[in-house]
Amino acid sequence: MQTVDHVRLSADEKKLVILDQTQLPNRTEYAELTTAEEMYDAIKKLRVRGAPCIGIFAGFAMFVLAQGFKQSTYDAFAKEFHEKSAYLNASRPTAVNLSWALKRMERVVTEHVGCTPAELLPLLRNEAQAILDEDIAMCKAISEHGLSLLKEGDCVLTHCNAGPIATSKYGTAIGPLILGAERGVKLKAFSDETRPLLQGARLTSWELDKAGVDVTLICDNMASMVMKNGWVQFCFVGCDRVAANGDTANKIGTSGVAILAKHYGIPFYVLGPTSTIDMNCPTGDDIKIELREPDEIKEMWYREPMAPKSVKCFNPAFDVTDHSLISGIITEKGICRAPYEQSLKALFH
Ligand code: MRU
Repeated sequence: MQTVDHVRLSADEKKLVILDQTQLPNRTEYAELTTAEEMYDAIKKLRVRGAPCIGIFAGFAMFVLAQGFKQSTYDAFAKEFHEKSAYLNASRPTAVNLSWALKRMERVVTEHVGCTPAELLPLLRNEAQAILDEDIAMCKAISEHGLSLLKEGDCVLTHCNAGPIATSKYGTAIGPLILGAERGVKLKAFSDETRPLLQGARLTSWELDKAGVDVTLICDNMASMVMKNGWVQFCFVGCDRVAANGDTANKIGTSGVAILAKHYGIPFYVLGPTSTIDMNCPTGDDIKIELREPDEIKEMWYREPMAPKSVKCFNPAFDVTDHSLISGIITEKGICRAPYEQSLKALFH
């Protein structure tokens, strides 16, 4: 049975254990979660984050919660299962992997009408494990496809964090770099710090450094300069939801990177598993963008507030990169090219 350290079941399988990503890179702290409220809060506060990782978390979370249900009949169990799933699903709206994984878990219940809770629990455990196992395989394949584009000495600019802790293993956007390092291929990276929550500074630079990749941290507003200097050969970013036409929601600032890349003639790739492609979402306009609290901009990282208390803030967590700016979407099944309506559709046939 495959496991990963940053999202796993406790030894007695009654709790969900996560590496608390808000404490990195300075502290390696684990949190044990048992209630739906704790799980909702962990997603909302980004203690667990990254689209595929949230999906894996959701699968195991529903298994842990279901073990605590008091109901003995199928109908009562199914009702509570659905309620808890809907509750967790409301924690963050943009990454499709959350609802995708919860739907998979719900399907286990709806496809086994009349089964007892004792019969359902092992099936739910298996489904959660399958979500994890599949993600491990998908990330490895995505990393291989991404690495096939790179040659010794290339430098990749990335935004936010789409590494191992945002997924299962390797990651998506930085998976090719980590795989390359394992194989002795010398590659370099620029990591955007990624305002306002600093996933690039706290998580990506930490993961790449640990993996032995030559990484340089930059503020988001320095991307243009390093591109202009000819120091970047590729941009690789992750994704939270890819619409059927290829428009891609990812961490706020990603669309700006794509626009800069186009200006400087640098190929811009989106890397993600097919679980992040939402064929029911026609275009980027149909993606709900999460809005977060102003204190993340004004206060969170400072000893004292850095803006007047009364000033308004706009704090969207994601933006949408237009498909016309994307050179390719790298999934576990290969590299999709424009027109994305066709190449993405073909992934599901
Ligand atoms: O708000 P976050 O930190 O969950 O945002 C994460 C991203 O935008 C990642 O790039 C995306 O989820 C892909 S993770 C493989």
